[in-house]
Amino acid sequence: MRYGVLTSGGDAPGMNAAIRSVVRSGLAKGHEVFGVERGYEGLVKGWGHMLDRSSVADILMAGGTMLHTARFPGFRDEAVRRQAMEQIGAWHLDGLIVIGGNGSLAGAGALSAAGIPVVGIPASIDNDIAGTDWSLGFDTAVNNVVQSVDKIRDTASAHERVFVVEVMGNRTGILAAVAGLAAGAEAVIIPERPVDLNELADRLTETQRRGKKHSFIIVAEGADHADRVARGIQERTQFDVRWVVLGHTQRGGPASATDRILGALYGNKAVDALDAGQYGVMIGQVQGNLTLTPLATVLAESPRVPMDWVDLAELLAR
Ligand code: F6P
Repeated sequence: MRYGVLTSGGDAPGMNAAIRSVVRSGLAKGHEVFGVERGYEGLVKGWGHMLDRSSVADILMAGGTMLHTARFPGFRDEAVRRQAMEQIGAWHLDGLIVIGGNGSLAGAGALSAAGIPVVGIPASIDNDIAGTDWSLGFDTAVNNVVQSVDKIRDTASAHERVFVVEVMGNRTGILAAVAGLAAGAEAVIIPERPVDLNELADRLTETQRRGKKHSFIIVAEGADHADRVARGIQERTQFDVRWVVLGHTQRGGPASATDRILGALYGNKAVDALDAGQYGVMIGQVQGNLTLTPLATVLAESPRVPMDWVDLAELLAR
């Protein structure tokens, strides 16, 4: 068999670990593995090359993706997808493994509905994909946020300031909620639960009265902007307030051990699924077990947002 593999959408640490696993698992089972470059755009335009064992050497730890990635909204167009299907035929691919987030998995679902044997692997630092507890990149991103906050904490403490830290998450606040608990944030502002600035300012003033001299607020980019929240607190309190946007520092850097392990497991399981004729599914991990969930279900359901973790972060930081 000849299987294709591509990475699509926002890059996520652990994508390379998954590519390595797909290639080496596939070769070990006597298959050929073809790397499609720059996601769906490469699939449509015919960009790609065969991958051998050594072509995936030394990528296990690296963030980003050796196959490159792209956001390609044109793939929503059926005529464009038909070109991709012709290319799949021209390359003689017997199956395709798509590594990416919700948009990429929607593309995989559309190809699957048109009869292409496709298996998805969830990858997004937002962890906003239904059907899995863990998408590739999330654990690394949480650790990146926590490391940054730990550094900023020194200045917050030394100058007795409030810091507003903006993290990624344009549609959901899952990264903000989990990082907020891990970093000890006083407040977490997420799209699922907007915060009233008057109430937040009162809360901070109250903690100050109890002796707390510095605080952190984590805000998801989809809920508000750090500068606006910082100005709002500055106007309503006596605190000296600063703000930081972590941006793409969250998405890069070496993959955490968890993301490397998940990449290995998901890549291997994806090859097994294609071999077993289990198409149109996404690999995931639910409560510690590797799972296969139909792409249609993944795309129809909403991810779980840990609101209870937001409550716990705020309770513990008071
Ligand atoms: O989908 C992941 C994500 O990191 C979002 O949280 C963020 O808003 C977006 O990608 C940014 O994407 P890009 O770097 O492509 O603009």
